[in-house]
Amino acid sequence: MSIYILGIETSCDDTSAAILKDNKILANKIAGQEVHKGYGGVVPELASRAHQQHIVPVVDVAFREAGITKDKLHAIAFTRGPGLLGSLLVGTSFAKAMALGMNIPLIEVDHLQAHVLAHFIHNNNTEPPELPFICLTVSGGHSQIEIIKDYFQFELLGQTIDDAAGEAFDKAAKILGLPYPGGPLIDKHAQDGNSEAFKLPHPKVTGYNYSFSGLKTSFLYLIRDHLKSDADFIKKNLNDLCASIQKAIIDVLLHKLTMAVEDTKIKRVAIAGGVSANSSLRQRLKDLANEKGWKLHIPPFEYCTDNAAMIAIAGYYKYKAGIWGSQSAVPYARKNQ
Ligand code: KG4
Ligand code: ZN
Repeated sequence: MSIYILGIETSCDDTSAAILKDNKILANKIAGQEVHKGYGGVVPELASRAHQQHIVPVVDVAFREAGITKDKLHAIAFTRGPGLLGSLLVGTSFAKAMALGMNIPLIEVDHLQAHVLAHFIHNNNTEPPELPFICLTVSGGHSQIEIIKDYFQFELLGQTIDDAAGEAFDKAAKILGLPYPGGPLIDKHAQDGNSEAFKLPHPKVTGYNYSFSGLKTSFLYLIRDHLKSDADFIKKNLNDLCASIQKAIIDVLLHKLTMAVEDTKIKRVAIAGGVSANSSLRQRLKDLANEKGWKLHIPPFEYCTDNAAMIAIAGYYKYKAGIWGSQSAVPYARKNQ
């Protein structure tokens, strides 16, 4: 008998609903929020209001696209955290109410685990990683290197001690006057730029941890100094600046990832999270994997940035393991709360 799961994701600024049949996605709908563009970042209050407006229509469209009615569902999986509390509350309340009304189980999902488990969504073009594997999870709020031992057993090896990788991209973009989220724009401009044009320092942090705040400050000072003598400095050098900061961020990530793979001798490597959509990171990882003989797993683009398909697949594995959620579950803003 097939298992049907509805996944709900509202941790940040994307309202998403997905319907899964076993490990296959029937629909994965995402409503983004344009409202934050002019603010240089996500405005929490505006995000939760937009989730309230989007959640019902997004779920409705997901059912229509999946071609099933809600009575087919076996469970509802939702993101409990980490994320913005007001945003999480919308998805949590929706999932609880619907599960209660339909008398079906509720499943709590951790957003970061879900980014990793997106690798197990059935996809004709890629095969899922074999356990255990090393995963570099790089998003707007978190950056970490873990050993994935089982679906819900992750060992943390290292993480950022300040800004997340996506945050580093977004802050660099903001310095350049680009709108939020800046990561995809840096990626785009960098494709026509010279990554050696501006030298940026490599932060020195011990172990598998890393840091981006020093890099961001150096980038800020570099631009401030050049602007003193040339008011058009950014405009004239935008592509090269994007390529240089992108290279510096990816150098840090790949250096620590390589250390982790070499020390653990686990040569199965995956990336996950919004920054794994970055074209240079994907290409450089492919080259590195070829050179070092790693088996590499890169998620399809639609499962890199926030989406409910990853919540639904995490829900599927919890359903199979009998790990149920509770009507008294409260969202958590940070990990380990
Ligand atoms: O995983 P995600 O969608 O949301 C969080 O869980 O935070 O990640 C969003 C982050 C943002 O910082 C965004 O700028 C970054 O992922 N991002 C990218 C690219 N696409 C999204 N960063 C660099 N290059 C990209 N192509
Ligand atoms: Zn995310």
